[in-house]
Amino acid sequence: MKTWKPSALLIMIWAFLLMSFSVNAQEASSDFFQKRRQQLISQMEDGSMAVMMSAERKRRNADITYPFRQRSSFYYLTGYKYPESAFIIQPNQEKEFIMFLPSKDSTGGIWHQKEYGLKEAMKVFGADTAYDIEKFEKILRPKLWSKSIVYMDTNDQPLKDLFNTIQGKKALLNSLNGIRNLNNLLDDMRLQKDSLEISYMKKAIDITSQAHLEAMKDVQPGMYEYELEALVEYVFLKNGASGLAFASIVGSGNNANTLHYMKNDSKMRSGELVLMDIGAEYNMYAADLTRTIPVDGNFSRKQERIYQLVLKAIQKATRELEPGKGIFEAHYKATDVIMMGLYELGLVTDPDSKWQRNFYTHYPASHWLGLDVHDMGFRKGNYGEGDYKVYQEPGIKRDIKGRILKPGMVFTFEPGIYLPENGLDRIRALKEKGVPAEKIEAFLDEVGPVYRKYQGIGVRIEEDVLITEDGHEVLSKQLPRSIDAIENIMDQSSDYLSKDQ
Ligand code: GLY
Ligand code: MN
Ligand code: MN
Repeated sequence: MKTWKPSALLIMIWAFLLMSFSVNAQEASSDFFQKRRQQLISQMEDGSMAVMMSAERKRRNADITYPFRQRSSFYYLTGYKYPESAFIIQPNQEKEFIMFLPSKDSTGGIWHQKEYGLKEAMKVFGADTAYDIEKFEKILRPKLWSKSIVYMDTNDQPLKDLFNTIQGKKALLNSLNGIRNLNNLLDDMRLQKDSLEISYMKKAIDITSQAHLEAMKDVQPGMYEYELEALVEYVFLKNGASGLAFASIVGSGNNANTLHYMKNDSKMRSGELVLMDIGAEYNMYAADLTRTIPVDGNFSRKQERIYQLVLKAIQKATRELEPGKGIFEAHYKATDVIMMGLYELGLVTDPDSKWQRNFYTHYPASHWLGLDVHDMGFRKGNYGEGDYKVYQEPGIKRDIKGRILKPGMVFTFEPGIYLPENGLDRIRALKEKGVPAEKIEAFLDEVGPVYRKYQGIGVRIEEDVLITEDGHEVLSKQLPRSIDAIENIMDQSSDYLSKDQ
């Protein structure tokens, strides 16, 4: 039950604040990309080269392709966003940065657009020389044999296939023991964002916040989840987003408990919550923000209790985010708050129980954010030494602090409480993991009736956070998350669509 409602004036102040947070992204100059290439070169071994091909045009069905999106690291090093391209970087050579791109289109641009001529590409992207992509194999071939060390994305199957073709037999990658994983150098670089990247991410976050606000204003019982999805994506594109950072998750009622729910086809009913996990992509950079709101505009008492607990967890845990701390320290804090709160609600019998913690908090509360929504390729150790233990045995390994935070790092913080219908069935499976049967049965006797009262509720709040010199900045702070603020926004109508239509 609400005791206080902000006035129309306060609502206007919120709207004004949101608008005044509106950011303008910087212009990308080729210097940014040149600086990144120099940083890469400084880590490469003498006499080596790095090779990368653009992302492929992916076939969707028949002769129709998905919209093209450049490989994140290709863009990161070159600024070039178009397909059928490649580059070679060879330190300390006269031509250090060589680009390959489609320089002519025999159809005169009728089917596909020609983006740049060779000379133009050299000028715009700072290449020392540029060739038509058709020459790539011919120019790569002798270099592949003469360089002692070749850096490549070792997950890039088309490039591996090309190497194999050049060598003429399948065993090239094994026989060339000088192959190194380029991602090991790039991932560390991509982790700390420069000012250009931060300006793009702020823009993506700003657009995503606006979409959340419009969805809050527009949602009403009887609408389908896909109607909210459509509104969100309309707001993205209308505000200059280049697309989606990931498929929008709009999960009402029990659907909120499926972390990567994407069907978005249920009718939303009064009394349910709807979880929206959405992210615009702006000039290749991702936002990733979640809000969970009541379909009819008012949280019920039960929903409010769960929601306040997630809110408390995110508020307390984000205080842990500052340079010098490990990324998992905030995760542990959030799970502590959640476990203690669930204990007070009667959903946990022992807040220190590892298996109960495991049952309720089953994913790490953060992931890096940047060109990719789950940034930096997920290589082992991505989040610090032993990070996989935190995923495999979540909330248990307190000694693993994770990668030490430094200014410029950007990541999400996204605690949640998920109480799926029939969720208690999952707890019996813990017997196979060594939890004594009598403990599980005692838990089910005590917690079962309370759980069944709350089941079907799923709440996540997700913010995007930048580590600064002396702490952190919640880049999504302009998007309200308190119950009062959300309920008041929901009283307004959308600027994009009218509730009365
Ligand atoms: N939207 C995917 C995630 O939150 O990780
Ligand atoms: Mn996320
Ligand atoms: Mn998300």
